[in-house]
Amino acid sequence: MLIAQISDFHLKPEGVLAYGVADTTKPLKRAVDHINRLNPVPDLVMITGDLVDEGAPESYLLLRQLLSPLKPPFVIVPGNHDHKESLRKTFPEHNYLSCSIEEKDEAYICFALDDFPVHLIGLDTVTPGEHGGGFGPKRRAWLQRTLSARSGLPAIIFMHHPPFASAIRYMDKEEFRGWREFHALISEHPQVERVLCGHLHRPIFRHFGGTIATTCPAIGMQLCLDLREEAPSTFMMEPPSLMLHLWTDLWGEKTLLTHISVIEEYPGQYSGPHPFFGVVSPK
Ligand SMILES: [Fe+2]
Repeated sequence: MLIAQISDFHLKPEGVLAYGVADTTKPLKRAVDHINRLNPVPDLVMITGDLVDEGAPESYLLLRQLLSPLKPPFVIVPGNHDHKESLRKTFPEHNYLSCSIEEKDEAYICFALDDFPVHLIGLDTVTPGEHGGGFGPKRRAWLQRTLSARSGLPAIIFMHHPPFASAIRYMDKEEFRGWREFHALISEHPQVERVLCGHLHRPIFRHFGGTIATTCPAIGMQLCLDLREEAPSTFMMEPPSLMLHLWTDLWGEKTLLTHISVIEEYPGQYSGPHPFFGVVSPK
């Protein structure tokens, strides 16, 4: 099974630049074209939140329009920039967006997809009005039940907020509420192959509760790689990328592999493929 993960489009209405700089329409179009050109085409596209930058209805209309050419089916978890009800209205055929866990008067979109060789679990970490993420006791009980029900199947948990600090200091100021409980729960379920997140607009990897937790590069803009204590909140227009997660059998062992694929501005932007062998270099 091949899964493409894309994240953090921060889509603005067409013609509006995000933060006065970023044209967010073009990179999403390029990402969709890029995925459709992959060979093999992924079985599924996983989107880990912040599909739009604000809740403008034009952004959601544009979002549906830009995602519609995608060849593989896609699944969504919301980010802190998303409006959950608008996501449901924009994608009414995505029934799983109506699955919810009620916690402190808020409905969290939590679901498990059982039709794949890997148990795919979408977890909503977004409380409306809050920038940082969290995980409360009802979601914890649901995740415990969900993982226990299919303990023999490798699992991927995907969510917007990473349950760990990144050393990008201004992003770490808001601790993921309940990360210790989340860590403890993951530690009890060795079948969890990955915890896949967005939010940090950079690829980051760490050991977490016996598994690997990662954040995905963004489509809209990348956070500056600035690990100083006083790093300001800034972004760069570095090339966007996606993550490709491959569940496969290699050397007689089932495993989940993750590759990163850089999204070109246009097909053929990066020269290649060039053979390593059989070519004589000119002197
Ligand atoms: Fe984001």
